[in-house]
Amino acid sequence: MPLTPLRLSVNVDHVATLRNARGGAFPCPVEAARVAMEAGADGVTVHLREDRRHIRDRDVERIAAEVETRLNLEMAATEEMVAIACRLRPPACCLVPERRQELTTEGGLDVLGAGPALGEAVRRLAGAGIEVSLFVEPDPAQIEAAARLGAQAVELHTGPYAEAPEAARGPHLARLRQGAAAARAAGLACHAGHGLAYDSIGPVAAMPEVEEVSIGHFLVGQALFEGLPAAVRRMKGLIAAARGG
Ligand code: PXP
Repeated sequence: MPLTPLRLSVNVDHVATLRNARGGAFPCPVEAARVAMEAGADGVTVHLREDRRHIRDRDVERIAAEVETRLNLEMAATEEMVAIACRLRPPACCLVPERRQELTTEGGLDVLGAGPALGEAVRRLAGAGIEVSLFVEPDPAQIEAAARLGAQAVELHTGPYAEAPEAARGPHLARLRQGAAAARAAGLACHAGHGLAYDSIGPVAAMPEVEEVSIGHFLVGQALFEGLPAAVRRMKGLIAAARGG
């Protein structure tokens, strides 16, 4: 029996990385968001980092205002970011840990060990009508803590799975399956993301609990070779095949 549809949210951060390399306006992440939606994406994700190394405030404002999409704003749970999100009110926010020196988000949030600021951020965002997800390792204790904090969703960190050699992926996949089951048991929507590519999407998309995947670096890189619309369509095709549709 086909599973429920799974949303593909296309992360356009690295279109902005390329733009910023030359300091001009090209290539434009707003245009990439539009093209991804036209090609069949179900949403767009942007990570507004404290150092604005790729996506900038104006990009988020323009995507929110100009592109018909389910915008997922990825951000740290800081006062500055919560204020921006509450002003723009995207449909969804994903809270992530952020360190200035990291190349990309390196691990899930420590929800269990977080101070009151994380819960306060979740409350303010949810109060603004935003669906809040927390980016976590597929650890049932962290997932249950996310539910206690009032999040509506968790995004499971797929990086260690996707980056492992194919032969070593089994244990990572087992942890992700356990995490997905824990999310459902806790009443949370289950999302997944980080490092996913054509060769790793299938087993994640086949998990019935997973409702959304967020994919950026691979799709933007692959766009160089086959174009963004073709890459989005091919990824959607692999997702549909894994869902039995
Ligand atoms: N999910 C989260 C929380 C992330 O931080 C990132 C990277 O910005 C992604 C998903 C997408 O990862 P990738 O760019 O490797 O597809």
